[in-house]
Amino acid sequence: MDKLRVLITREQIAQKVAEIAGHISRDFAGEPVVLIGVLKGATIFLADLARQIRLEATFDFISVSSYENARQQSGEVKLIKDTDQSMEGKNIILVEDILDTGLTLAYLRTLLLARRPKSLKIAALLDKVRRRLQPVHADYIGFKIPDEFVVGYGLDFAERYRNLPDVCVLESDPKPE
Ligand code: IMP
Ligand code: MG
Repeated sequence: MDKLRVLITREQIAQKVAEIAGHISRDFAGEPVVLIGVLKGATIFLADLARQIRLEATFDFISVSSYENARQQSGEVKLIKDTDQSMEGKNIILVEDILDTGLTLAYLRTLLLARRPKSLKIAALLDKVRRRLQPVHADYIGFKIPDEFVVGYGLDFAERYRNLPDVCVLESDPKPE
């Protein structure tokens, strides 16, 4: 059985999301933005963030996966679903659930910058600072968290727990002696 321990409550998340939305609204005052969510983990964060942003905003989604057989450190990422709209000349905000090794966002940043957007910012709800393999600068960060596996608020373990309203640490029961 999986044990869950609440790490960040829904109230703390709501307050932080409102703060980030305020920053974005000020930074891009008067300009339209494209929010690009990284499927599937970022969907809930994007939905909450978007509703607090006081700007003209459109949505797009992108999906990536790491190569199963490649070593994690290779940093190879496979594009599963690309954006629908052209990104040229747009203000892009890439919305991600968690910044971990940084390999995913480093790949996506390079991919999107090649399309000549007007600007590219990264918003990540969570940041596992100590796990970083690739330097990635996120412009908007919700919470720095320790190196523990978390689920909820979009984050999954084998596709489960995405619908939990709080961010929880997944603690597996120790094996019986
Ligand atoms: P990165 O390329 O290592 O930065 O990977 C980021 C991706 O790994 C995120 O989009 C998540 O899908 C996944 N991930 C990293 N840490 C966790 C975690 O603690 N819980 C659930 N998913 C995680
Ligand atoms: Mg993800």
